[in-house]
Amino acid sequence: MVDIHCHLLPGLDDGPESMEESVEMAEMALADGITHIAATPHANDTYSFDGGRSLALCGELAARFDGRLHLATGCDFHLSYENVEAACASPQLFALNQKQYLLLEFADFALPPSLDQALVRLQQVGLKLIVTHPERNPLLRNAPERLRRWLDAGCYLQITALSLTGRFGPQAERAALEYLDRGWAHFVASDAHNVDRRPPRLRQAYDLVAARRGPQVAKALFNDNPLGAWQGVPLPWVPEPADAAAPSTTRRRFFFF
Ligand SMILES: [Fe+2]
Repeated sequence: MVDIHCHLLPGLDDGPESMEESVEMAEMALADGITHIAATPHANDTYSFDGGRSLALCGELAARFDGRLHLATGCDFHLSYENVEAACASPQLFALNQKQYLLLEFADFALPPSLDQALVRLQQVGLKLIVTHPERNPLLRNAPERLRRWLDAGCYLQITALSLTGRFGPQAERAALEYLDRGWAHFVASDAHNVDRRPPRLRQAYDLVAARRGPQVAKALFNDNPLGAWQGVPLPWVPEPADAAAPSTTRRRFFFF
């Protein structure tokens, strides 16, 4: 499996604090069946992003694994004005494996109308946008029409493995399953931060997706599409998105007639 969203590098954000912790996380991922990890530290107001430092730490970590684990860098890109300007100036600096896919994180408290223009600007400089864990964002959970519009505009969607298995509560779990069933999800990733509360594990969610949607869909979401983003090539599996569930008023009207 290929994990494109993981806070694996030490001392950069709220992920591991030491290289030893990073090694422990990476060993845990390997034991779970993960072969590739993109280390994606936050790029936001609290944690500024330093691409060069990430690459150096990634090289240090890779040296501890002697080819047993494939590592690359990217970032967990917060959609602020400053970040958008910086990414438009140097798109590859922020992209996964310095190719063209960008993990996009939205604030929990506001989705301003200007946001859509920011997405267009990022796409105009050649970035392919991956909206991360909308199932965990209450505003996005309640705005499926907006998510659908972004999908129609060529954005992709990543859900978190632990959402599928209930770690983020019933609302996030329900939304993640809905995205999965509607063909809105293109990736599942760990978004791991540590070895206990937010571990780098995907296997349990993989099995859940394989049982619910079939082995081919699981392989696409956990391996084939993430590898496509890693390599910077078109995604091999992009289903036609189904509409959000019809409002319950439809059924009520039926019963009234
Ligand atoms: Fe993250």
